[in-house]
Amino acid sequence: MLPNTIARAPGSLPLLGHARQLTRDPLGFLESQRALGPLVRVNLGPTPAYVLNDPELVQRVLVRDAGSFDKGRLFEKLRDWLGEGLFNSEGATHRARRRMMQPAFHHREITRYCRVMAEEAERVSAGWHDGQIVSLDEEMHELTLGIVARALFSAEVVRSSSREIGESLSVLLPLLARRSLSPLGALEKLPTPAKLRFDREVVRIRAGIGEIIRVYRHDGSDDHADLLTMLLRADDPGAPDGLRDTHIQDEVISVMSAGTDTSAATMSWLFHELARHPEVERKLHEELDAVLTAGPVSYEQTGKLEYTRAVVSETLRMDCPIWITMRRATSTVELGGHRLPAGTQFIISPRTLHRDPTVFPDPLRFDPLRWLAPRQPEPRQRLAYLPFGAGRRKCIGDSFAWYEMVIAVATIARRWRLSLGARTGGRGRTSAVAKPEARPVTVHDRTKSATTAKS
Ligand code: HEM
Repeated sequence: MLPNTIARAPGSLPLLGHARQLTRDPLGFLESQRALGPLVRVNLGPTPAYVLNDPELVQRVLVRDAGSFDKGRLFEKLRDWLGEGLFNSEGATHRARRRMMQPAFHHREITRYCRVMAEEAERVSAGWHDGQIVSLDEEMHELTLGIVARALFSAEVVRSSSREIGESLSVLLPLLARRSLSPLGALEKLPTPAKLRFDREVVRIRAGIGEIIRVYRHDGSDDHADLLTMLLRADDPGAPDGLRDTHIQDEVISVMSAGTDTSAATMSWLFHELARHPEVERKLHEELDAVLTAGPVSYEQTGKLEYTRAVVSETLRMDCPIWITMRRATSTVELGGHRLPAGTQFIISPRTLHRDPTVFPDPLRFDPLRWLAPRQPEPRQRLAYLPFGAGRRKCIGDSFAWYEMVIAVATIARRWRLSLGARTGGRGRTSAVAKPEARPVTVHDRTKSATTAKS
């Protein structure tokens, strides 16, 4: 017989549900649900949603029974921004889009982007000077935006437009998660200043991308080895140019949104961890000094940077920027011994799963050696480790992100040590992704200041 009680998160308010907790401290709130059970009911305004705390249940939703779920609420609300892009399209449209995009993320293409990744990391950090205080957030955002923009649009002629698109993006991304989780529904349509700003930036970004597509199509510049050229050449059967251009715009926006903040936040967390763990930093520097030669960090060298890769893996575990994704049942489903009707919403938090002490012992200890022989992750840890999701909606940019982060971290850390200034009293921040607290960061030139005090 199926049990009929599901744990409920305490503190729900009429109409608002758990909106207050999800706005004030979403990471702490979701983590606090883990102890309540494998499936915990929370309220998004008046709508119930179920937090999945058990990796087996998560695998069923994302992989085994993926056909019984769509992406649901979080993504519907993104539609007026992302259109029908890969990130939030469903069913046959998603399959067609994934086929259209896949060649651009083929391993062969990624090896070519490695050069861009190294050059952009070099460009951003070359502007630093010993002892300078930088905003790590902004530097990492500029870096990942530069990488994605150059991989997408390699034509020099569009360089200034891609910078403008990046500016719009940095306004839009922080507004996205807030809108998606807001319980206010119809009230969001009111012309508040935030809504007007959002709409204005959406128009601006779409116009910018539309213009770039026109340049590529009509000035014969569609022979660049970049993502946009591949999209322009991709098969989109039966769609006239106008419609294809809208689809391509959707994809460019999807990739720029999904592929910039995520990697930028991960690298910010990583440099925070290095600054807090001098022994990890020292081992990383030893590896970089032993493996790297003069010149840009290359694709081939990444294969030898074993410890650097373990540091990235551990950052994606402990400080996973993906704190929430959602699914919605499209038919009645049975999960964890409960029968739940079509339309039921589910919350999955990779970050919370990665901090489960029953899966990752001592989960708040930053320990890259978890990922290296002789320890290696166990099968249940692999099951629970979902920084890039799983199944048919798994991140299409996972390899891209891996090479990007290893190359960028290696390029920066071989020359620079980053130390943290005084705490601001704040905690980790969330927008569409989880970010570390904003703390002043000082950069130290390793070639000049080998003995600078660590924070
Ligand atoms: C550290 C970096 C990254 C992380 C942690 C990350 C994480 C994720 C996750 C968890 C999903 C699945 C969401 C879900 O199932 O609901 C996803 C999807 C996606 N990601 Fe990433 N991502 C990263 C970097 C990138 C990059 C660099 C790109 C592109 C250049 C990218 C493009 C996408 C796209 C287009 C999707 C939608 C795929 C689909 O639905 O078929 N991501 N990402």
